Amino acid sequence: MNQSSLQKLLAPLALGGLRYFESIGSTNDEALAWATENALDFSLVIADEQTTGRGRAGRRWVTPRATALAFSVILRPFHTERSEQRVENSKEVIAPTLFTGLGAVALTDALKVRGLFPQIKWPNDILLNGKKVAGILTEAVWTGDALDAIIIGMGVNALAGSNPSDDELFFPATNLEAELGRAVQREDLLRDILSAMHAWREKISTGELIQAWEENLAFRGEQVRIERDNEEPLLGQVMGLEADGSLRLSVNDKIVTVQFGEIHLRPAV
Ligand code: BTN
Repeated sequence: MNQSSLQKLLAPLALGGLRYFESIGSTNDEALAWATENALDFSLVIADEQTTGRGRAGRRWVTPRATALAFSVILRPFHTERSEQRVENSKEVIAPTLFTGLGAVALTDALKVRGLFPQIKWPNDILLNGKKVAGILTEAVWTGDALDAIIIGMGVNALAGSNPSDDELFFPATNLEAELGRAVQREDLLRDILSAMHAWREKISTGELIQAWEENLAFRGEQVRIERDNEEPLLGQVMGLEADGSLRLSVNDKIVTVQFGEIHLRPAV
């Protein structure tokens, strides 16, 4: 993987910009900094290794050199294509939470064409055979109360050695090579994810994205336990998603909506 091979491979996607690093702290940190400067819509930050990769809830995300896929996409939802100009009269209000679904659905598409059966553990984990293979960290850049950019950070355990050992984890993990029984080409996988992201983005407000997200939801119809900071755990059956991507649970025959936040979802048994 290097800047020029990526530039060539990803040329048909017309990225806003591309920054490749052999090693970096966190691609999300670089993307956040670039977004506050002049990054164009659909710009990509990618690294072969992260030394301070971040996950949700302040957790560490391990990206050993040459084995994983770690990248961040900068989207400017309220800007005109490829321009830095804000669309002041844009009527479209996209819930920032939908961008986690956009990343998750794009990744499941790219894994399905490789013969895998991924599931999305709400809100941001991708599972294969009940084990975590990827995580998504979506962050927003605000100017006052206006949403300026969205960063979709994605970490995929691609090759053997890319996932941490089980004792470091809250949830069992796997990698694509272990699940497929053969090595995956990380660059090709990246191209397929970005291409799916590009296509789904057009449909982000249509309900089709929610439908695809829901169809791939892990534990659908099953009992789960939702753990939230400083609150009693919530036990309920996974029913589906609301229009903004919130989780719909049936708790004692009542529908309860769980908003995004520092929550953890586990199977109830
Ligand atoms: C999670 O499962 O908690 C989300 C993990 C997200 C990791 C990716 S790797 C690329 C990007 N850069 C980071 O520092 N984090 C995200």
